[in-house]
Amino acid sequence: MNDRTDSQHLAAPFGDDYGPLLTGVHAPLTEEYALEDLKLIKGRIPSDLNGVYLRAGPNARYAPNGRYHPFDGDGMVHAARFQQGRLTYRNRWVQTDGFKEELAAGKSTHYGIRETLKGRSDRRLKDTANTDLIGHRGRALALWYMSGDAYEIDPITLQTLGKSQAISQSGGKISAHAKVDEVTEELLFFDYGNDAPYMHYGVIGADGALKHYVPIELPGPRLPHDMAVTERWSILHDLPLFHDHEAMALGRHRIDFHPEMKSRFGVIGRFAPGESIRWFAFSPCYLYHVVNAWEDGDWVVMVGCRYMPALDAQGGIDARRTAKNVAELEMHARLWEWKMNLRSGETAERMLNGQHNAEFPTCNGRLIGRKTRYGYLIDHSETVTLQWSGVRKYDLFTGEDLGGWSDDPQHSWYSEPWFAEADHASAEDHGYVVAFQWNDALKRQTLDLFDARDLARGPIAQVGLPHRVPTGFHACWIEADRLARR
Ligand SMILES: [Fe+2]
Repeated sequence: MNDRTDSQHLAAPFGDDYGPLLTGVHAPLTEEYALEDLKLIKGRIPSDLNGVYLRAGPNARYAPNGRYHPFDGDGMVHAARFQQGRLTYRNRWVQTDGFKEELAAGKSTHYGIRETLKGRSDRRLKDTANTDLIGHRGRALALWYMSGDAYEIDPITLQTLGKSQAISQSGGKISAHAKVDEVTEELLFFDYGNDAPYMHYGVIGADGALKHYVPIELPGPRLPHDMAVTERWSILHDLPLFHDHEAMALGRHRIDFHPEMKSRFGVIGRFAPGESIRWFAFSPCYLYHVVNAWEDGDWVVMVGCRYMPALDAQGGIDARRTAKNVAELEMHARLWEWKMNLRSGETAERMLNGQHNAEFPTCNGRLIGRKTRYGYLIDHSETVTLQWSGVRKYDLFTGEDLGGWSDDPQHSWYSEPWFAEADHASAEDHGYVVAFQWNDALKRQTLDLFDARDLARGPIAQVGLPHRVPTGFHACWIEADRLARR
């Protein structure tokens, strides 16, 4: 089977005059597919792997108006569904308001983030829902880097169902990253913007209703990317990297890193008022992604990927280059632990592993907010933007590298790997790690499965796909029992 799900989406490729981020491994697909009977290259699909792996990414439908940034590309979801030893694949655009409008117009009617500066209010920015996916109440929510709507997607058919009512009821925005406590099925989220109080924090219940939404006062507009949760607390980020507001007022886009400031993490009770948040100060850094957080006695522990500031010739922090690297999505991150003592106010932080440029972290999703020993991250290329050249498992308590794998570190482009629990799992890492891989030397696209207990063994199964899955951003895994709630 190789049917297009919607013939309106037939598109002529718009040529490759639009820069490196729309060509080669990044070039968008022009079609939507639903595929089964895929070619098994290696091993077999385990029958105790049941659920769906979803990956989001930019897939521009029309040639951009002006300069292009990966956050501008229309969101497309790629799904690998596992059922009793069978695998099916499908991909579909997220039918955002902007996407539908452009489909009707037959061209781009919006501008990208580099072309919509202050003073250009005639240029509309498109919420592309292209950045992250999270499973909640048997549905997937497609989220966007800039804080946008939450588009609800059927995780099997990939049909866009509409916008989350709860998010529309709150401020109408949700950051790219939110957390689902799979024990309570509550969704914890935040949004941020350029107007005081600059951040809000909220909770959506297992019934889909907005249960809590409170202002979080920050000293000014910030660019937080992720948050963390434990069983009782949520942890919000105030980091010393943000827009230069004078430049912004003049219509220029500039992000500054402020090494003279602290990074602050705010701990707030899950349903507590905004003013009760308690801030803890740490060394200045930027932080894209959290692996997980948990409570350990009086301590709240958060493990994440600390963006390592660029250094100048004297070994001091090069603030300008640090900010530029972050803006250009050049990742130089190390696995890091931050600890906050809720009784004494003490803090502690340490690098857990200095060896690997580790990013796009995931863990056993059932245990978000609970103590987890294992994290599954990508090896990020130090030189090629968005090239994730391998997958690696870490001990989150000690930072020990528990082994990784790459078919070809020079030519493999993996997607964000997710841990997929095996049926009747008997341990935290009893399951599989799932990722797409494009090999640009072999011009070969595969879906790779690893035994999560031993990534260094290499893929236990590899399935070929007839087309390239363009590079993207985040993924998620929704277990079969959680799919059943849809
Ligand atoms: Fe992210």
